[in-house]
Amino acid sequence: MTDLFEKYGLNPNVPQHVAIIMDGNGRWAKQRGLPRASGHRAGMETLRALIETSSQLGIKALTLYAFSTENWKRPITEVSALFDLVVEYFVKEIDELHENGVKINVIGDIEPLPQRSRNALVAAMQKTHENGGLMLNLAINYGARSELCMAVKKIAECVTAGEIAVSDIDESTIESNLYTAGLPELDLIIRTAGEQRLSNFLLYQAAYAELVFVNTYFPDFGEAEYAATIAEFQKRSRRYGGL
Ligand code: FPP
Repeated sequence: MTDLFEKYGLNPNVPQHVAIIMDGNGRWAKQRGLPRASGHRAGMETLRALIETSSQLGIKALTLYAFSTENWKRPITEVSALFDLVVEYFVKEIDELHENGVKINVIGDIEPLPQRSRNALVAAMQKTHENGGLMLNLAINYGARSELCMAVKKIAECVTAGEIAVSDIDESTIESNLYTAGLPELDLIIRTAGEQRLSNFLLYQAAYAELVFVNTYFPDFGEAEYAATIAEFQKRSRRYGGL
């Protein structure tokens, strides 16, 4: 196995938790005169290298923004194609992911998804839940604002039930009621395809994350460019409000 640290001049200080806004599939397809769904398929093919690179670098958690709560506004054909891809992805990849110790988790509300996609996601989570390798979190029907609403409701219910007092609520109460409970602190958010915004992704968790924006469309975002974003992360000085 190639030593990626040597190959890309990385030091051992890799981010523990990386999140990627996988943008640009549509533009990638348009550039080639292909339907948008082909761009999503090409994006899906990109995942293998990113997951493998993350595992090899010892990154503990990788969170991928696959479908936002706002993506329902897209034409039904594109929404269906995306959910079909989720099923196809797990049919093709689940054995290898499992052999490599990847633990799959979904963040977001999968209730409104088609049954087939829900089944594929639940089966993938069940099969890999004891794995100790890379924690791969797929954000599907995820939105940070709705995640925060959910957390507030859960905490309010605990208060109403007399389980906690309002004065007991602190950051850890909120964190333990987010989808990301139990995951390492988010260190790095990467967004491909040039836009420089978070688009309702991990707004609470991003408090001290480093942000790296690249112009490359997601289907072309491979090992070398991913390693370059890690190198960029390693150049940043993280002070968390201190000196
Ligand atoms: C944003 O690009 C991308 C998405 C909304 C979907 C991302 C999904 C994948 C990469 C496939 C994921 C598959 C699995 C199994 C998780 P865009 O369509 O907004 O691109 P554009 O801005 O160029 O139109």
